[in-house]
Amino acid sequence: MSYQIAIDGPAGAGKSTVAKAVAEKLGYIYVDTGAMYRAMALYLIRRQIPAKDAEGISRASRGADITIAYENGAQQVLLDGENVTALLRTEEVGNMASASSVNPDVRKKLVELQQALASRENVVMDGRDIGTCVLPGADVKVYLTASTECRARRRYDELSAKGEDCDLKEIEADIRQRDERDMNREFSPLRQAEDAVLLDSSDLTVEEVIERILALCR
Ligand code: DC
Repeated sequence: MSYQIAIDGPAGAGKSTVAKAVAEKLGYIYVDTGAMYRAMALYLIRRQIPAKDAEGISRASRGADITIAYENGAQQVLLDGENVTALLRTEEVGNMASASSVNPDVRKKLVELQQALASRENVVMDGRDIGTCVLPGADVKVYLTASTECRARRRYDELSAKGEDCDLKEIEADIRQRDERDMNREFSPLRQAEDAVLLDSSDLTVEEVIERILALCR
């Protein structure tokens, strides 16, 4: 049996940073499920399918070929064979991912891909529904969160460091909207699994969060 660590939480809580580090320490693979929803969003944007067109999204999503590969331990997302990893972390793609991930056909397709990966390898997987839906039997479950202000500031710093022009108030509004959608959607909404450990990273350093998760794994 493979070993499974599930990390869920809202946008900007620091999931990917700590999940990546925990995976590296344990020698597991890191699975960023948000990147899969983002690749699907990119596919829909390229086909100019509006976020509100549920039927169009269902239909188009069936044709998207999304696969995962690893290069020097880093996850790469392939969309119809093209490596799109570098195109996924924009606000436009993130917002479309939040909107299109409410679609049950999109979720079904990506959840199957995630479960197949986790059945073959020891994984640290992050997302919104990993502990509740994708890997309900995960060995360790963490719900990682932080205050809205703190998450907006981190996203702002991340984008600014990449040289992107951005506005803190706009990012904060985006995060509130994304939380609202991720937590209130009909299918697999973001919520803490009953057996998940709650970690609030607002006043913790990255190292402290990593250490707490490693302690849970031990
Ligand atoms: O974690 P992220 O910002 O890369 O995720 C982008 C969107 O994808 C997020 O707003 C909701 C969706 N998502 C999801 O519904 N389920 C997951 N397991 C991961 C992401």
